[in-house]
Amino acid sequence: MSIKERIAAKVGELSGVDAAEIEGWFEVPPTPDKGDIALPCFKLARSLRKAPPMIAAELAEAFAGYEGIVRAEPAGGYLNFFLDRSDEARKVVLEVINSGESYGCSDEGEGRNVCIDFSSINICKPFGIHHITTTVLGHSLSRIFRHLGYSPVRINHLGDWGTQFGKMLVAYKKWGDRETIENAASPTRELVALYVKYHQEAETDPSLDDEARAAFRSIELHDPENWELYQWFKELTIREAERVYKLLGVEFDSYNGEAFYEDKMPAVIDELREKGVTTVDNGMTIVDLSAYDMPPCLILKSNGGTIYPTRDITAAIYRKNTYDFYKNLYVVAYQQNLHFRQVFKTLELMGYDWAKDCVHVNFGMISMADMTFSTRKGNAIYLEDVLMKAIEKTKAIMTEKSPDLPDMDEVARQVGVGAVVWGPLYSSRIKDFTFSWDKALNFEGETAPYAQYTHARCCSVLRKAEGYDIEKADWSCLDNESCSALVKAMKALPESIRLAADKYEPYLISRNVIEICSAFNKFYFENRIMDEDEGVRNARLALTLAAKTAIKTGLYLVGIEAPERM
Ligand code: ARG
Repeated sequence: MSIKERIAAKVGELSGVDAAEIEGWFEVPPTPDKGDIALPCFKLARSLRKAPPMIAAELAEAFAGYEGIVRAEPAGGYLNFFLDRSDEARKVVLEVINSGESYGCSDEGEGRNVCIDFSSINICKPFGIHHITTTVLGHSLSRIFRHLGYSPVRINHLGDWGTQFGKMLVAYKKWGDRETIENAASPTRELVALYVKYHQEAETDPSLDDEARAAFRSIELHDPENWELYQWFKELTIREAERVYKLLGVEFDSYNGEAFYEDKMPAVIDELREKGVTTVDNGMTIVDLSAYDMPPCLILKSNGGTIYPTRDITAAIYRKNTYDFYKNLYVVAYQQNLHFRQVFKTLELMGYDWAKDCVHVNFGMISMADMTFSTRKGNAIYLEDVLMKAIEKTKAIMTEKSPDLPDMDEVARQVGVGAVVWGPLYSSRIKDFTFSWDKALNFEGETAPYAQYTHARCCSVLRKAEGYDIEKADWSCLDNESCSALVKAMKALPESIRLAADKYEPYLISRNVIEICSAFNKFYFENRIMDEDEGVRNARLALTLAAKTAIKTGLYLVGIEAPERM
């Protein structure tokens, strides 16, 4: 039983009021010197037929010498409890240390599958900065769900189907050179250049569009030569994207994208018709959603071609059949809100009750504060450029601050990447986000480098201590303000993790990590860790070890590495 439950039970016994009800009454005293929790006694006045101050005074006596409570002090109509902080500290510190990196783990998922469609890049294009949020958010959610005992299925639903690939094919055959593309630092940038050229030429030469249509048709028919080229475009894109994924530590279980569903759509279209979900309008096959205040969901164009929603409906059914998911998440920007509402509604109209388990985990836009990267034609900012730049900048800072750091390159990668991915994971996902170098690389502010730096500080304290013995800890020294703030922040982490999964909001974890970090730094400056007293020293070292473990676990869950030295 928690201390609140125990207090409520005892007050319930003494007053005859339901303990569960009392448990909901607790408040936090206005300042820490007034105690840790407060019971508003005026709520008992009616059942006890006494004035609140008198009730508070009587209850204070009843709690004298009560386990876990140092003292209970009446204050007007309130009874303020001072909890035994060192006992709480001992419990939390041991819990964190004993759990290690599985602190906050649970088995609530019971191994159930959670499909997470994230990153989902488009082929023949470089990895743009606008794909950062879906990538880091989906990656973080997959770690969070695994921590809670679910089995995440990480799906990169490639944008690899559509008439634009006919254009790409024509452009490549006319102006491209296999070797140049293959050997380029960024093959997809070569493909984009060809694609741009296609559009310039097509303005004066309309026959190109006919060629492109025919070329896409040949892909649909798996013409050996064109199919091979199209597969090669796809390979080039994935190979290049994997450089970014490797920097970020991101992995996928499946790259089944839109093209994968090509041969699975006819059956779903038949099913839609048989179930009477679709109608024909102007030659197009649609799902009329006017009853739900939505424009129709398009299934087939008038030329019989399938489109984006057709593929998502098919993919959802495929995922249910293949993974029997508990939840099916789509980490996609809010620009596609309507698309997903239409798709989910159509699935519901098809009679699939699991449509309710499909969730559009939407998020806001990202923009750059300083325009360092947007001078390029087309305003495209490439994620790989941003990451490399961040790593370079980090390395410059470190070379100055800690020139003797071993593994400088690896640490610069961990910190540089952390700095970039932190932003989209530090606020509610729906908020638009502006990236700024100064903010991201700040070692003092509420940033990833600050959290990583604090983690490295913990490691350094433990390294310099050259051994410690938790058995010898004198927990009573952990009862001051700064220790108890740190304990509280660490204790909150498992609940933050659960909430983050519940709301698909990793920022609840990153905020908690920052709380732990600032509490640790305060503790570090206010307490001499290497005290002569063995008991005191070991208790403070144990607290440091717990802080290090909690910070590392929290950072891992938002996809950020924690180097031991910085
Ligand atoms: N490729 C799309 C884009 O870049 C995102 C796909 C999201 N996933 C999906 N199943 N629709 O905008």
